Amino acid sequence: MERTFIMIKPDGVERKLVGEIIGRIEKKGFNITRAKLFQPSRELVEEHYIEHREKPFFEEIVDYITRGPVMAMEVEGESAIEVMRQMIGSTDPKKALPGTIRGDLAYSLTENIIHGSDSKESAERELKLWFG
Ligand code: PPS
Repeated sequence: MERTFIMIKPDGVERKLVGEIIGRIEKKGFNITRAKLFQPSRELVEEHYIEHREKPFFEEIVDYITRGPVMAMEVEGESAIEVMRQMIGSTDPKKALPGTIRGDLAYSLTENIIHGSDSKESAERELKLWFG
């Protein structure tokens, strides 16, 4: 069993896609073992995206993620990190395949509705950061 950090970003919450996305995760057979809906602080989001602090889109992504509530979740299942990344699809929704969450539900690179940890190390770090 593996645990990963999944966040439905503010556009996903605003567009009322929380039920749709949680439905896909549960139908896959994964368990949502912790979850909270809240508006994260700049401090938390800057720490989450710390490895991208030198990127030109850093300020933009921090503004975006802090603009409203997000649904932060711990998702548990076999190979949950890799399988959730496959279910989420490519970073750019225009390149994400149909059948993936971004391929079906998103269209903008900045507002790509969902985040999933990309490795065991990231999952551990992010779950600790968001859930303590
Ligand atoms: S990189 O440059 O390859 O390391 O970036 P990548 O791993 O693809 O993406 C890192 C996170 O930044 C988001 N991202 C962007 N946000 C705004 N504008 C642009 N141009 C942009 N490019 C990438 C991307 O969605 C990643 O966030 P998460 O939350 O992990 O999806």
